Amino acid sequence: MTNEQQRIEDLRQQLHLYNHQYYVLNQPTVSDQEFDALLRELQELEERHPELYDPNSPTQRVGSDLSSDFQSFRHTRPMLSLANTYNKEEVREFYNRVREGLQGEDFEICCELKFDGLSISLHYEEGRLLRAVTRGDGIQGDEVTANVRTIRSIPLQLAPGSWPRNFEIRGEILMPWTSFEALNREREASEEPLFANPRNAASGTLKSKQTSVVARRKLDAYLYSLLGDELPAEGHFENLQQARTWGFKISDAMRKVRSLEEVYDFIDYWDTARRDLPVATDGIVLKVNSLRQQRALGMTAKSPRWAIAYKFQAEQQSTILREVTFQVGRTGAVTPVANMDPVQLSGTVVRRATLNNADFIERLDLHLGDRVLVEKGGEIIPKIVGIDESSLSSAERGPRVEFIHRCPECGAELVRFEGEAAWYCPNDTHCPPQIKGRIEHFVSRRAMNIETLGPETIDELYSRRLIRDIADLYDLQVDQLNGQRGERQRSAQKTIQAIADSRAVPFERVLFALGIRFVGETMAKTLARAFRSIDELSRATLDDLLQVAGIGTVIAESVIRWFQDADNFMLIERLRSHGLQFQLSEEVLSAQSDRLAGQSVVISGVFTHHSRDEYKALIEQHGGKNVGSISKKTSFVLAGDNMGPAKLEKAQKLGVRIVSEDEFLAMLKSE
Ligand code: IVH
Repeated sequence: MTNEQQRIEDLRQQLHLYNHQYYVLNQPTVSDQEFDALLRELQELEERHPELYDPNSPTQRVGSDLSSDFQSFRHTRPMLSLANTYNKEEVREFYNRVREGLQGEDFEICCELKFDGLSISLHYEEGRLLRAVTRGDGIQGDEVTANVRTIRSIPLQLAPGSWPRNFEIRGEILMPWTSFEALNREREASEEPLFANPRNAASGTLKSKQTSVVARRKLDAYLYSLLGDELPAEGHFENLQQARTWGFKISDAMRKVRSLEEVYDFIDYWDTARRDLPVATDGIVLKVNSLRQQRALGMTAKSPRWAIAYKFQAEQQSTILREVTFQVGRTGAVTPVANMDPVQLSGTVVRRATLNNADFIERLDLHLGDRVLVEKGGEIIPKIVGIDESSLSSAERGPRVEFIHRCPECGAELVRFEGEAAWYCPNDTHCPPQIKGRIEHFVSRRAMNIETLGPETIDELYSRRLIRDIADLYDLQVDQLNGQRGERQRSAQKTIQAIADSRAVPFERVLFALGIRFVGETMAKTLARAFRSIDELSRATLDDLLQVAGIGTVIAESVIRWFQDADNFMLIERLRSHGLQFQLSEEVLSAQSDRLAGQSVVISGVFTHHSRDEYKALIEQHGGKNVGSISKKTSFVLAGDNMGPAKLEKAQKLGVRIVSEDEFLAMLKSE
């Protein structure tokens, strides 16, 4: 080995160690300057020695701007989720079920925090990070190794120790509150849409196509389960303690207990103490500690019998209601929004919360100046859940909150549809937020995928009168997009190109993109397959529509109404002249049949020839329906490898046929 080679090796070892001390142990032993100097030295040496490239070198933590597409990866063992409980009674039931399941044998429970991020599976070989996979649908996920390498608390190279040659470790990727707030401040300054919570921010970040973006955003990771054939110990807790010595970040909050009372103590303690944690948690996880006992207890269809989650009550705060404003959405639905004195809630400052609808306001008998209870659960938008009754005195209350009768944006008189709680602005062709909302929907990823056109640009183009409807997008020119020079010009060109490219988007997605009420992604596919072209669909009568499986009166009437509108008719003609796809492609048409008409098919297990989604699409293309769970009505189960034992048992009990992947493909081919 040359001197430089040796130096590279040494620097890598040393920097791995410093990283671990800083990001996992929170105990740096060198100054930032010293660290940076060593890192720079390593970078320079590596540049001189490209033959010594190592994806796991500490220099790779900064990421690159190259775009990476994600491959799917089939999990070695499915990534299950946990059954939820919401009170101590349910926890006791779990505890008793475990006791019965283990037939009186003693057992220990490992109590842990439930981290609120996204789960990740990390594979190590010979002590080095080999790959990182997201949960995906639990059977297969996206390989995001390059992005995960930039997360400093994930060891790329394990500390010397008795780790198994091959193992998998699973855990949660999180964005700490401080990084989350800093990120949102930055986004606010550059008028980018804010992330609603750290979980969304972490997940958006991990799916980023540029590793350098991930590197900048400062994610963190806690690991909570070790899997493999040669684990160091027989207990889950003990295995994780070992993993900590190899360099993984394992929560200090884990406790092993032997009684229900101790479980309750753990819950009570963390119910409040969690507010001081640097990362978001949404509950507690309880796991039977012994791996042997875990195996003995086994799993149900979705989750293990040996573990359960206890979810914290959503945090509530009370504050004063100052004003109610009204927001008009893409569909014209008007949502009342409470504007309140700022209040700290689950780590963020909340000033606005939804008030649901007119009935809700009436039921509460809400007045301005009332002290209201705000709650933020797992969902994105905080909501008012009631009035803080203790604050109501006989003293005078402010004016009663009245729902509006006219649209706050365009002045049209609001209408209400039978059976619906919301009021709508009926002026869908001229009401600005509805128009902008429709354009935003049209360009969104699952629709026409013109992603570079964000809400701010749409807003600006709209106010400059350059776009009034979706067809106007196709007339836009680069220079109209503020694209005079440099970066802006490049991004304007990209946008114009994306708009042009969207003309190739298949018919079913165009149909979804049009934003017809109640026509979501799946319904758009159903309609496209049933009617094959926009012209046939526009000619369909109510009866024609109702003939199609899965279409009820609400959807049918909405489709009819949309096509009756002359403006929409014109819109289609303009889009057609721009070359959008208004009929099913030959490829899809020729692949269609009604071989599976009327059949309900359950998909289970892991497949070799196609992905689960592809099988789902195949079933639909041939007239069948993919359903989630097995019942007497199930026609057959399309079973891959490792079909869940519970599903298998159920299918056998109900006499439902099991069809292998090959048999299924043969079925579609046979005449
Ligand atoms: S164990 C089979 N432990 O919660 C058990 N999960 O619904 C697998 N989570 O998808 C999970 N903290 O993303 C486990 N300490 C913890 C956890 C945890 C958070 C997440 C995980 C999982 C979900 C379960």
